[in-house]
Amino acid sequence: MKISIKTSIYEISLGLTRALCATVMAVISVQSTPLHAQQGKASPRERAGAVLYGKHCSTCHGVRLIKDDAAHDLAAAAKDMSEERFIAGAKTARGAMPSYASLLNDTQLADVYAYVKRGHSSDLDDVPMESNH
Ligand code: HEC
Repeated sequence: MKISIKTSIYEISLGLTRALCATVMAVISVQSTPLHAQQGKASPRERAGAVLYGKHCSTCHGVRLIKDDAAHDLAAAAKDMSEERFIAGAKTARGAMPSYASLLNDTQLADVYAYVKRGHSSDLDDVPMESNH
């Protein structure tokens, strides 16, 4: 009897320790995820947007949306931006930003928006991204 009570207390504490470890690991993995990175697979639209972004936008807005000294942080800018505003912004030349009105249509720009809004994920690492340095 004594032994079996001890055993079940041991089993309960082992279970609690495991649950605690899982919680701690989950918290750590959430916190160590970069700001714009996402888990899971990108949708076909988001992948199409990433391809267009890598071809047309990454030189100035950062490879894989990662902002460096030279880049204008588009992911941060798009955070509170509607799709309409984003598309209008991409079609308007302003400073170093060229107009894409004649190069990409609204559907393509909406795909880029979907990618920028969701963020980069590791399943998109195979998408070529042009860098200017
Ligand atoms: C030659 C460099 C360059 C390229 C290429 C470029 N951008 Fe930009 N973009 C900029 C700069 C610089 C700004 C900030 C302009 C400003 O407000 O002064 C900007 C701003 C923007 C904005 C407005 C953000 C805001 O804060 O209002 C959008 C939207 C945008 N870019 C989308 C795109 C998309 C989509 C592409 C690719 C299809 C692209 N850009 C390619 C340089 C570039």
